[in-house]
Amino acid sequence: MSYKIFLDEDEIPRKWYNLAADLPSPLQPPLGPDGNPISPDMLAPVFPMNLIEQEVSSERWIDIPEGVLELLYRWRPSPLVRAVHLEKALGTPAKIFFKNESLSPAGSHKPNTAVVQAWYNKEFGIKKLTTETGAGQWGSALAFASALVGLECKVYMVRISFDQKPFRKLMMETWGATCIASPSNQTQAGKAFLEKDPNTPGSLGMAISEAVEEAVTDSSGQTRYSLGSVLNHVMLHQTIIGLETQKQLKKAGIKKPDVVIACAGGGSNFAGLAFPFVSDKISGQDIDILAVEPSSCPTMTRGEFAYDFGDVAKMTPLLPMHSLGHDFVPPPIHAGGLRYHGMAPLVSQAIVEGLVTPKSIHQLECYQAAMTFAKTEGIIVAPETSHAIACTIQEANKAKEEGKEKVIVFNLSGHGLMDLRGYDDFLNNNLKDYELPQADLEKSSACMSDLPKPSTAKTGKW
Ligand SMILES: Cc1ncc(COP(=O)(O)O)c(C=O)c1O
Repeated sequence: MSYKIFLDEDEIPRKWYNLAADLPSPLQPPLGPDGNPISPDMLAPVFPMNLIEQEVSSERWIDIPEGVLELLYRWRPSPLVRAVHLEKALGTPAKIFFKNESLSPAGSHKPNTAVVQAWYNKEFGIKKLTTETGAGQWGSALAFASALVGLECKVYMVRISFDQKPFRKLMMETWGATCIASPSNQTQAGKAFLEKDPNTPGSLGMAISEAVEEAVTDSSGQTRYSLGSVLNHVMLHQTIIGLETQKQLKKAGIKKPDVVIACAGGGSNFAGLAFPFVSDKISGQDIDILAVEPSSCPTMTRGEFAYDFGDVAKMTPLLPMHSLGHDFVPPPIHAGGLRYHGMAPLVSQAIVEGLVTPKSIHQLECYQAAMTFAKTEGIIVAPETSHAIACTIQEANKAKEEGKEKVIVFNLSGHGLMDLRGYDDFLNNNLKDYELPQADLEKSSACMSDLPKPSTAKTGKW
């Protein structure tokens, strides 16, 4: 048995998989301020038209351009690794595999879409990209991608992470980007947030408002906004993870996994690994597909499936998604990338249909799992990724109790070498679990009460 299963460069997938083509209960459209579905040209001030075409596409397979493959070859295909040392430590009969996305130059799965978005923007004649970042993984991925294709890049980084992770900012600057703390004084939205609460820790929702505002107010028309998760085209680009994994499992002689696991903040690394397996599940395979979030920011497990804005200043269209309300300011837990009020519409619709099962886990269990993983497999994972590992350990222990030789695959979405402050707090007993009080949830959800409601109809097959 090989510990690592590699693909040659010529085995890299040449098409992305679009789940929108196959969802049994169809994806519902984004709505404009008047409650009517928005048209592609309404998105044109925000994104280049070549990416908008992908956003609204219902084609099952979309070609990956040769120029994009040239960028992806810098670190792809990524290895699929059998976690034999973790299996041994747990004494489980389960076979555990992880897809190692931490080997990209920026340290996570985020460059899988960053280089694609940068390439399409460059093709469209754009000169500058703006974006937000939570943990700093996305900001550094876009800074890296912008450097490769020759674009300017400006990143609004959520204040709490900006303070906790100074080295992420330095990475972005090394790749030539500008990174500032959000809320900032550089946008109207930022000024309004600061006026309301000068000590706000910020949120992804606020940072998105600032980045979108800067893009759409550039009178030269040469700036666009880039989002690292949530949107359909981002999910699409990430499916290269799961498509490679399918080929690698086949090489390892495995017909299908029993359980597929990834953490979910806006849904992109989860969608990336899981959607090709969701397709298999729709075709009749028996696979448990688990999306894991923090109990302190329980978007999928306790949020409503509703139409909501993607940002605090209500600049985005209304998206049909699980949401805690666009006003939600998440508690400052260390998994900065999982502190978002919403979820990708494609992931949300798959949850509504019963194809995907959401789970929530508290941060102490996640850090404990990350410690076990570091001491067995050796990799110090990102705090976000620790949620997938905690869930994997739960499933491996379940397999042990049931005496079943299950195949479990999880996404190792990123390393944690820039996130050691969280490990420091855990090692010194300075971390606590935090259950979002029901009253706080009701308060933050109230902002959605007057918005249109999406259909929750499903086929009932899963
Ligand atoms: C390493 C890592 N994993 C997971 C996530 C969560 O994002 P998403 O749900 O879009 O994969 C992030 C977000 O910053 C991240 O940095």
